[in-house]
Amino acid sequence: MPEKVQIRAIKGVRDILPPESRVWARVERAAQDVFGTFGFAEIRLPIFEQTELFARSVGGDTDIVGKEMYTFRDPVETAEGLFKAAFESFPDKVEREELPEDIRSMLAQSTPNVPLDKWKKISLTLPMLSEAMAHGESVSLRPEATASVVRAYIEHGMHTLPGDVKLYYMGPMFRRERPQKGRYRQFYQIGAEVLGQSDAPGIDAELIEMLFAFFGRVGLEGLTLDLNSIGCKECRPKYVELLRAELLKVKDKLGADSQRRIETNPLRVLDSKAPDEQAIIEELPRISDHLCEACKIHFAEVRRQLDIRGITYNLNWRLVRGLDYYMRTTFEITAPGLGSQNAVCGGGRYDGLVELLGGLPTKGIGFAIGEDRLMLSLEAAGKVVAEPSVDAFIVWMGASTQATAIKVAQRLRAAGIKVELPPEEFKFKKALGLADKLGARYAILIGENEIAAGKFTLKRLADAVQTSVTEVELLETLRAD
Ligand code: HAM
Repeated sequence: MPEKVQIRAIKGVRDILPPESRVWARVERAAQDVFGTFGFAEIRLPIFEQTELFARSVGGDTDIVGKEMYTFRDPVETAEGLFKAAFESFPDKVEREELPEDIRSMLAQSTPNVPLDKWKKISLTLPMLSEAMAHGESVSLRPEATASVVRAYIEHGMHTLPGDVKLYYMGPMFRRERPQKGRYRQFYQIGAEVLGQSDAPGIDAELIEMLFAFFGRVGLEGLTLDLNSIGCKECRPKYVELLRAELLKVKDKLGADSQRRIETNPLRVLDSKAPDEQAIIEELPRISDHLCEACKIHFAEVRRQLDIRGITYNLNWRLVRGLDYYMRTTFEITAPGLGSQNAVCGGGRYDGLVELLGGLPTKGIGFAIGEDRLMLSLEAAGKVVAEPSVDAFIVWMGASTQATAIKVAQRLRAAGIKVELPPEEFKFKKALGLADKLGARYAILIGENEIAAGKFTLKRLADAVQTSVTEVELLETLRAD
């Protein structure tokens, strides 16, 4: 006898079952509708990308890239992939030399579409190349999607499209974080990005307006918007140095994490939740006092644009965000009912990211909503009401009635009505009992008498009221209710 094993979902991931999944679908439809009215179109992105994409954009020193990514080696299949893997495996062997003939012929056979002049920079022996090939390319499950959107924007030459490019996406992201309420290893985001030549503050404000329109549509209330500007490449480095200098003065009073961050990323110290660091952090210099003139003007105008739209916010100078690509506007939205993981949305401006990933100078801003947290908050507010999954349950009695029952089901379903049709004849009581348990609103009784009379019995299950109806009336009643 084989040993009985029970395989369970792995730590930090979960299944989303009906009826909850129906609410998820409703939320996603609301995003599609609302974002569509603001001129956004959907982009569907790969779940995994080259690790380098995230390392470059999100940042190699961030927790996300440094500790939380699911990264694996994919066997090399293209000359470009091999080139990369060779670089990684034997960085010191990269020289400007012609390819040896044996390697050249191997590559010509295995990758006929890639021009061989790409290979002029590398000098490896065949065994070394084989090793690099086996080592493979480093790929990662996406921890977020902004990097992918920017990659796609560059790859498809979207800068030639008219106006700003406005894209939204939804789907799973992966971070190996410590699971807790509202924090999962596979979680879902609904995000949007605006890319183009303009960094007009009206773009920032309209994006936030769109977020609130969406939250309003799904019924999420009690939200708080935190807003900050973290400066640009002119003013931020100076501020970071000042911050580092100030932090070094108080280093001994800080915990190990913050001490480490003084070196790697002093801004992240401002994010610290450690109780005994709070008083120290409050005394640190604030970015708002160190913005350059252009950033000051931009931020003031973002705020004015939000005011025009009637959107209120808290200025939060400590809102620096955990990804490296941000500059100027950053924001986060917190929702009630979530405990410590209460950020339901985060976003900001990332002018310069397109360039960093090899594209032309481009401005960008976006956000991502944590869909799991959105659902938790809706649930806490009693707003997760699943729609009934069955409108009408057909009870057919007698083998000769099945064909009619099937036809009725077909017509009702074609009209968008949710119909449950037992696949075999059930006893009357059992059928009605099941209809009740499934939460059906109506039972349609089809027996030989009904067929002879050309009418069906429609029973409203909430109050057991029965009426005799033609097929046309049946459809009208079900549609109207
Ligand atoms: P983020 O702040 O890392 O930003 O994530 C956005 C939201 O995703 C968070 O506010 C939270 O609701 C949700 N989230 C993050 N990690 C988890 C997790 N482990 N479990 C459940 N929910 C989670 C970004 O990802 C940026 N790409 C946002 C952005 C788009 N910035 C510009 N454009």
